[in-house]
Amino acid sequence: MIQLHQVSKVYPERGEALRQVSLQIDRGEMAFLTGPSGAGKSTLLKIIALIERHTRGQVVVDGKNLERIGRRALPYYRRHIGFIFQDHRLLTERTVFDNVALPLVVAGVGRGEIERRVRAALDKVGLLAMERRHPRALSSGEQQRVGIARAVVHRPALLLADEPTGNLDPELSLEIMRLFEQFNRVGVTVLIASHDLMLIRSMPHRIIRLRDGRVEDSGRREAS
Ligand SMILES: Nc1ncnc2c1ncn2[C@@H]1O[C@H](COP(=O)(O)OP(=O)(O)OP(=O)(O)O)[C@@H](O)[C@H]1O
Ligand SMILES: [Mg+2]
Repeated sequence: MIQLHQVSKVYPERGEALRQVSLQIDRGEMAFLTGPSGAGKSTLLKIIALIERHTRGQVVVDGKNLERIGRRALPYYRRHIGFIFQDHRLLTERTVFDNVALPLVVAGVGRGEIERRVRAALDKVGLLAMERRHPRALSSGEQQRVGIARAVVHRPALLLADEPTGNLDPELSLEIMRLFEQFNRVGVTVLIASHDLMLIRSMPHRIIRLRDGRVEDSGRREAS
């Protein structure tokens, strides 16, 4: 699903944030990305989601070479990916329903289809009863679940999450991870950046460790 070959990323102000990263994530796999602050976890996720462009090397996602995806094709590419932010980035003036509906509205999906898909997404994260509320009136765990519903409303084949449990207590964190497992079980490929070693080690998934922009441990026996 994701192939990185000798990928480097240079931020002009900073220098090399990723150094010759080679990795493969299979279709249907669930994996964690860990490593110290500044190791390049968020950068790697952003490159896969084309929020940032890599500087050298090759990135292939779902058979698409990302260098060949120009600005005009970006929205279409992103529709195949669900991205979950640590701070969930919800619109506070809009209802839960409207927040989850947003990607479909932007994509020009019809009203009836939007209602059907938003409710299906909210149902999956257990928030169907809260569609009329505003994000401010929700707990942080619930807000994070709205972010997940918004990310899956397109039914993406790939889910990327950047520290999705960063602000949550251990119990809620586990609940969120279980939710990702549910999506993974129905075939979605999931890649989650997380500092929470205790939590991710308690789960039976691959752990990729980055340090200083390099892959320190690919979590798997493979040529890298
Ligand atoms: N937009 C940017 N411009 C310049 N430098 C950046 C930018 N984004 C990240 N960096 C730098 O690249 C390096 C990797 O950052 P990144 O955010 O990918 O790390 P991370 O592993 O996600 O860290 P954390 O665990 O703190 O979230 C850091 O040194 C950071 O300062
Ligand atoms: Mg980060």
